[in-house]
Amino acid sequence: MKIQFHGHACVQITTNSGHNIIIDPFITGNPLTAISWEDIKTDYIILSHAHEDHVGDTVAIAKANDATVIAMVELAEFIGEEGIKIHSLGIGGSYRFPFGTVKLTQAWHSSSYQGKNYGLASGIILDDGHHSIYHAGDTALFSDMSLVPAIDIAFLPIGDNYTMGIADALKACQLIEAHYYVPIHFNTFPLIKQNPKTFIENVPAKRGLLLNLGDIFTL
Ligand code: NI
Ligand code: MN
Repeated sequence: MKIQFHGHACVQITTNSGHNIIIDPFITGNPLTAISWEDIKTDYIILSHAHEDHVGDTVAIAKANDATVIAMVELAEFIGEEGIKIHSLGIGGSYRFPFGTVKLTQAWHSSSYQGKNYGLASGIILDDGHHSIYHAGDTALFSDMSLVPAIDIAFLPIGDNYTMGIADALKACQLIEAHYYVPIHFNTFPLIKQNPKTFIENVPAKRGLLLNLGDIFTL
């Protein structure tokens, strides 16, 4: 599995079987990203929730790639109104796709777009049969993170203000069993300015992993 971080909460995954998946493709308007949405080639788009800094360029990318959007029922149906292929999931539900299994998990956050609510915010567990990731989405710390199965990489928001800050994200590391803990959702806007090194240096057993923009990390 190859993993590329595009800034904020946008993570692109290429499986060993050659499938491409992107999570929360907020490219246009993301001051941290080095690419444009036209550069994204993907088969699937998974959304954690409906906020604009997560839905981002979903509609344009899905149309250009004939990609399927996987999301919470209400959000998926909203995206589907654009004539895009969708797959709806509920919290706690999983489905086996050609690239692997996706399960939506609980996340303590809201999920609105242009003033309307679109179901619940979620986290994402993706398992391609060889490796697995947990993308926490935008969430507060909650003790049921301990129910996430052991995974290879946990992507955790550290920006504070809207989500966990560094102190809570470090507590999350104690609840989630992972080989690597990657900080996301920081420094994109002044309100979520953080020093990720403070997080990395305090993750036990040197398992904090800082993914720089565009870097490809191979599992
Ligand atoms: Ni959000
Ligand atoms: Mn967000």
